[in-house]
Amino acid sequence: MTKNIEIAILGLGNIGSEFFEILQNNLPEIEKVSDTKIQISKILVSDINKSRNLEIDNNIITDDPEEIFNNTNIDIVIELMGGINPAYSYVLKCIESNKSVITANKDLIANHGKELFSKAKSNNVSILFEAAVASGTPIISTLTRDLSYSNITSIRAIINGTSNFILSEMEEKNSEFNDALKLAKDLGYAEPDPTNDIEGFDARYKLAILSSLSFNTEIDFNDLYVEGITNIDSIDFQYAKELGYSIKLLAIAEKNEQNILARVHPVMIELNSPLAKISGAMNAVEIKESMLGTLIIQGPGAGASPTSSGLLSDFISLLKNKSNLSENIPTLNKKFNIVKIENLESRFYLRFIVADQAGVLSKMSNILGEENISIASVIQKENINLDKKWAELVFMTHKSTQSSINQALKKINGLSIVKELKSLIRVE
Ligand SMILES: NC(=O)c1ccc[n+]([C@@H]2O[C@H](COP(=O)([O-])OP(=O)(O)OC[C@H]3O[C@@H](n4cnc5c(N)ncnc54)[C@H](OP(=O)(O)O)[C@@H]3O)[C@@H](O)[C@H]2O)c1
Repeated sequence: MTKNIEIAILGLGNIGSEFFEILQNNLPEIEKVSDTKIQISKILVSDINKSRNLEIDNNIITDDPEEIFNNTNIDIVIELMGGINPAYSYVLKCIESNKSVITANKDLIANHGKELFSKAKSNNVSILFEAAVASGTPIISTLTRDLSYSNITSIRAIINGTSNFILSEMEEKNSEFNDALKLAKDLGYAEPDPTNDIEGFDARYKLAILSSLSFNTEIDFNDLYVEGITNIDSIDFQYAKELGYSIKLLAIAEKNEQNILARVHPVMIELNSPLAKISGAMNAVEIKESMLGTLIIQGPGAGASPTSSGLLSDFISLLKNKSNLSENIPTLNKKFNIVKIENLESRFYLRFIVADQAGVLSKMSNILGEENISIASVIQKENINLDKKWAELVFMTHKSTQSSINQALKKINGLSIVKELKSLIRVE
């Protein structure tokens, strides 16, 4: 029997407008496949007088959220306002008034996911958020539905399109960081204030969500190590190429026994590996699972149309799920220790500016040796400045711990022959 469903949308900005249009244009088909009659009852905005380039009945636009919370006929709310406040309290009120919620809001899920999941469960409604990570690329449903009974051991992801665009420009066109950033802004890939993207904070939110779902545990994004891409120079790409690597901002989470190490930072990754080939604003997530092996999902990481695709797939799955709405809500009931970056074992690329004189290499090598760090290769370029006083020295180490590297760097920084450590990049 055909069901009648009323829905509300919170927010009619970039994503809300596109989603509204796509929904309108596809309504007959969606109604047919889901055997549902759909009515868009209310759309919440902050300014009802704003002119909007949409064919829309003005009577359904409101700036009063109570009209949505108190309307018992509304079954599904799609939250597209962004930010944490008031989105958090609005979503909570919707769930408490027995409405299922679909959201594209990663900040909301990273900060309040566990609480919202358990509220939704106890009210027997759903909360779906496919579009919150990698826009419409189906990574959330893969983790929460297809791999819900799996043993995921690691994820490695390129989940910030802005940073990946900038690094790709630096690699492919030899651009300097600031020029690549300016181009990203001009093309709409970077916000006027790009801090969240280039400092890795956006990727850290998304990693907290992906690792929580992968390992069925609550992960606080504040516990995850984060380092952005602002210290990468174009010359690092030249050395990386010489050594057989690309440079990417990766979000990595690894699980062993009782421990999880999760981190966002630039890495050198072998040029022929699949993640090294993800170029421009694309996103990709590589999942290692004990039975499946390695799975890679790649797709657009942003944009109104891909995001609407993720929202639509959540919407249709809700419409089709007529019995247990809270079925696919993650439980996050396992316990792990979140270990610090100092425990990381990795190879390291270290680029120093040092005095161009005899004995420098041996002094630095001795210090690395004292900390049990073995050197895989050294590249020395002389006379990098006009007064010919300084040279550039690059070490590639064998596997070592981050804490040994930190100890060695403390000692090396105390040497008068070392002007500065220009780059430290971990190697995957
Ligand atoms: N942009 C992307 O590529 C992308 C990709 C994936 C996920 N997302 C997520 O999608 C969400 C929406 O992003 P967006 O780019 O569409 O944002 P946006 O263009 O800034 O739109 C926000 C909308 O919410 C309304 N709004 C904001 N605060 C409100 C309040 N206090 N009360 C009532 N309405 C309020 C605004 O109303 P007015 O129209 O009246 O100003 C506007 O319509 C965010 O969570 C974002 O992270 C975006």
